[in-house]
Amino acid sequence: MTQSLAEIARAMVAPGKGILAADESSGTIKKRFDGIKVENTEANRRDYREMLFRSTDAMKTAISGVILYDETIRQKAKDGTPLTKIIQDTGALAGIKVDAGTKPLPFCPGEVVTEGLDGLRDRIKEYVGLGAKFAKWRAVIDIGKNIPSYNCINANAQALARYAALCVEGGLVPIVEPEVLMDGDHDIDTCEAVTERVLKETYSQLYYAKVPLEQTILKPNMVVPGKKCAKQASRQEVAERTVKILKRCVPTAVPGIAFLSGGQSDEDATAHLSFMNAMGPLPWALSFSYGRALQAAALKAWGGKTDNVAAAQRAFTHRARMNGAAALGKWSEQLEKAA
Ligand code: 13P
Repeated sequence: MTQSLAEIARAMVAPGKGILAADESSGTIKKRFDGIKVENTEANRRDYREMLFRSTDAMKTAISGVILYDETIRQKAKDGTPLTKIIQDTGALAGIKVDAGTKPLPFCPGEVVTEGLDGLRDRIKEYVGLGAKFAKWRAVIDIGKNIPSYNCINANAQALARYAALCVEGGLVPIVEPEVLMDGDHDIDTCEAVTERVLKETYSQLYYAKVPLEQTILKPNMVVPGKKCAKQASRQEVAERTVKILKRCVPTAVPGIAFLSGGQSDEDATAHLSFMNAMGPLPWALSFSYGRALQAAALKAWGGKTDNVAAAQRAFTHRARMNGAAALGKWSEQLEKAA
């Protein structure tokens, strides 16, 4: 049975489920491993991710899909089983990060543009052959003095649009990820205004590139104050402002929105999502595509030791279940503590 791209997109945001972002580049996973004093070797990367993907309870109940890195989509578990097969056997879909990271944008100090369009059509073909059903491309917008510039927002939105068009043409659901960073001391009003501008431009460019929105998923930041802003916001305020901006910018043809966690605490990321869903009905499914907020507790519990695999899987399962509940608007602090 082959699923259409629209069906795959809807499955990615199925009720109570969301996406595990495990697509850290070898450089980013090194930072995570440094934090737990684990050497960044291919075997350790495999063991760590195998541990997550073999958390069968979490995968079956709360995870619709996993975003992989190029190395991981080709990797085999210790016993020789392809990691993609372990994922597929839980009923989850395999996805692939296809961008090549960011580079400085000329004449725009402090700003970056995401690269990776050259040869993308051929790479998509290869990834489809390797079992991928969806893809991800992350654009990065930083807030600072006099930034972001329109040039940065426009260049990144154009790249996202061409990536998304190539994905649909080649048979992958594109996750469109324009991330406004929460680094810095800007206030929540600034994040709100920048997020609105970025999303408006992104959907204009997707329209010009003729991308069928029914076959896409949006992966945005939430509207939050900068991490160093003196005035932090309540969870309810973050939820209300984020939904307000999404309603202004995201067409209802988009089947689902799966947030990034962006450096929020595990529990904040869960609570914000749950509060938003509790404000429903909403015109799209609202779910998660978390990296750090799904993995941090498991990474710490694992610490690179085989003896800790069961404990790490319990930690991952707990977080995945909490986020699954949040995707239904049913998370609560009592639920968090009871588990
Ligand atoms: P975080 O949830 O850690 O922000 O990662 C999500 C992601 O995939 C960033 O591209």
